[in-house]
Amino acid sequence: MSHDSLPLYIQAKDLLLQKDSLISLAYASLTIALLVLIVDYARMLNLRRKMPPGPFPLPIVGNTFFLPDTKPWFYFEKLSRKYNAPMITFWIGRNPTVWLNDAWAASELLDKRAGIYSSRPRMVVFGELGSGDWNLVTMKYGERWYHLTKRQCTDDRRVHRKITHLGVGTQQVRSYRTIQNNESKLIALSLLDEPTRFEKHFERYAASVVSIIAYGRRIPSYLDPIITEVIAVMQFAAELNVPGKTFPMLMETFPILAKFPNWMAPWKRGLGGRRRGKDFFFSLAKEANDESPNDNFARQIFDLKEKYDLDDREISAISGNLFGAGSDTSSSTLVTMVLACVMFPDAVKRAQKEIDEVVGLDGSPDFDDLLNMPYVEAFVKEVFRWRSVAIIGGQPHAPIQDDHYNGWFIPKNTWVQGNLWYSLRQSQLTSGPYIVILAISLIQIDSTPIDISKKTSCRTQTKRDITPLVGDDEVPSFPLYAEL
Ligand code: HEM
Repeated sequence: MSHDSLPLYIQAKDLLLQKDSLISLAYASLTIALLVLIVDYARMLNLRRKMPPGPFPLPIVGNTFFLPDTKPWFYFEKLSRKYNAPMITFWIGRNPTVWLNDAWAASELLDKRAGIYSSRPRMVVFGELGSGDWNLVTMKYGERWYHLTKRQCTDDRRVHRKITHLGVGTQQVRSYRTIQNNESKLIALSLLDEPTRFEKHFERYAASVVSIIAYGRRIPSYLDPIITEVIAVMQFAAELNVPGKTFPMLMETFPILAKFPNWMAPWKRGLGGRRRGKDFFFSLAKEANDESPNDNFARQIFDLKEKYDLDDREISAISGNLFGAGSDTSSSTLVTMVLACVMFPDAVKRAQKEIDEVVGLDGSPDFDDLLNMPYVEAFVKEVFRWRSVAIIGGQPHAPIQDDHYNGWFIPKNTWVQGNLWYSLRQSQLTSGPYIVILAISLIQIDSTPIDISKKTSCRTQTKRDITPLVGDDEVPSFPLYAEL
């Protein structure tokens, strides 16, 4: 008997039953969703109790929507002052991020405990949709060998870092001073010829130094397409590194949105175009290996290809990282130097006097002169501190196991970020062996003679008062200081 031929009351009963079961299903789903939400929120609050202090997270979205529209480092400075602690916790969605507020906490975790903190957290936007798992800047411990052999191993990131340090480790970079000295003379000439394009000259200088190191290839003109390419990639990458409450950064809060196919996900627009950068840097590396008459880092990498079983993506990433890490950072810092010169003309006069005394009127200063130019050295360090380009500490780190600091719990894989903007503006750095210099003119007001043979590091400091010296505005009405 067909359904149509059933008496009307039976059909109606069937429909009612179907409706009832749909309603029950909806109720059951809602109850399950609510239960999951409650359990997850209980997990968040339980973690919050044990972790460093920070604003109260909401379910699912955490603190994401507390972020300002732009420049979150000012907001993090306010939070850090409010909680007055060496580190704070800020929830991006359901994930806690820990912000290191001072050099001591950063040194303890990222330096002394580097064995567990050198890994990276899950980065949805910069990593999964950006540079991929094949790059030192996003790679977790264990990831590379897992991809290669499907076995977990803890050596992979170390391999990339080991190779990177062969090219730009602290000892190795000393051998590049001649390159830097030569390029700095050329930059002085360009500035005299075309002073208004100072930004372009700095970009060329920084890209050229890095390109000689990485690929044995000078960049003679700021019109070279390699510069446009690198600057575009880097500026985009820099934007993808700052936490935000709008797309694309909102995908860190809702990682599921990254899983949608590109055609139905306008919020992913512009992401996932890794191929271009990869091919570009691999071609440069191959050309440098095959044809360059000069020693270069790319050739070193090719020499290690077999030993470490490196594939093209890795060769591209390890060599291209020098561009990524070294060009925009250096040129932006030089632009900051110009800003400092404009704001503190007295300091420029004093630095110029020192250069004239040490170098004379006919030459250009180079690295060998630096030992005799403490004021210039202080000026340079002050530029790094005053407006650090790595304003939120560069790439995040993550511990590979649960950890504790100062009685606080830091769970495995937590996103750990350096709150550099705030760390570099705290008063405890101005005491002890640090030379205090007034921002208004960068004139030394401390009577301690500058003795560069007595270099100290932040780790020798013990004083821990955290008294902010600055207001909320950006005006540097605070003392500046240089570590000598
Ligand atoms: C003003 C200039 C620069 C600043 C402020 C700067 C800052 C930083 C910071 C904050 C990090 C992150 C460190 C970490 O995650 O622990 C970093 C990493 C790195 N930098 Fe620089 N950097 C500068 C110039 C350069 C240059 C010129 C090069 C190369 C020629 C370079 C190569 C690298 C590399 C390869 C890494 C990754 C190291 C790793 O993860 O082991 N940087 N830099």
